[in-house]
Amino acid sequence: MKIAIDGPAAAGKSTVAKQIAKSLKYVYIDTGAMYRALTLAALENGIDLEDENLLGELSKEIDISFENSESGQQVFIDHRNVTEEIRDHQVTNNVSIVAKHKFVRNELVNMQRQLAEKGNVVMDGRDIGTNVLPDAEKKFFLIASVDERAERRHKENLEKGFSSDIESLKDEIRRRDQLDSERETDPLVMASDAIEIDTTSLTIEEVVQTILDAINTKTQ
Ligand code: CDP
Ligand code: CDP
Repeated sequence: MKIAIDGPAAAGKSTVAKQIAKSLKYVYIDTGAMYRALTLAALENGIDLEDENLLGELSKEIDISFENSESGQQVFIDHRNVTEEIRDHQVTNNVSIVAKHKFVRNELVNMQRQLAEKGNVVMDGRDIGTNVLPDAEKKFFLIASVDERAERRHKENLEKGFSSDIESLKDEIRRRDQLDSERETDPLVMASDAIEIDTTSLTIEEVVQTILDAINTKTQ
């Protein structure tokens, strides 16, 4: 079975997707991490982020892989562990520019479909239900208010030991949502057969339970 979880930044997709995968013993695939890894490589190589051809070449050459460890899923570029670096501010602020290019998306979407062929998967991203796995048996679209999403990121930052300005976080989230929703290729949009869940006032456990209930109800 394939489960697609889409939605805007900080709606809770990866946290919830990981728990669903664990509970069902499925493989979790974080497609955002792939766009982030490519963005990190492009920044390190000094590639102009508007240069679709060069970025398309880079996405053909790059070897992105995942490994599961006790401290969570690890992401590698050519066997170098980049799990922490791909969450850097500079990557976060540039990833939607890289992800808008058709040549880039063609390559990464192919990789994602290959990963999904291996068996039961929970995949999260922006275009999983609409484009990567349109035949996914279960599709969910998580949303939450911008205020709540900025608050979540703020809390995460505090836990990592640094403070952040809520208004800047809101601006960054709005800007990324806008770029992701308005791009021409595979924009962020809810699939017509997805279940929308507003997580604004729900706990992680409540969202996970809502999804597990929906999966069980439909399969009975
Ligand atoms: O976790 P967060 O919401 O910060 O983002 P992410 O899932 O790591 O994705 C980072 C960025 O990659 C998104 O803002 C999109 O620009 C892009 N992305 C995409 O275009 N398509 C996907 N399937 C997944 C991510
Ligand atoms: O993957 P995405 O960007 O959609 O979001 P995430 O990184 O999974 O979640 C962002 C933050 O919100 C995490 O720190 C979660 O613990 C938190 N969260 C929450 O507080 N309540 C929820 N219902 C879901 C997530």
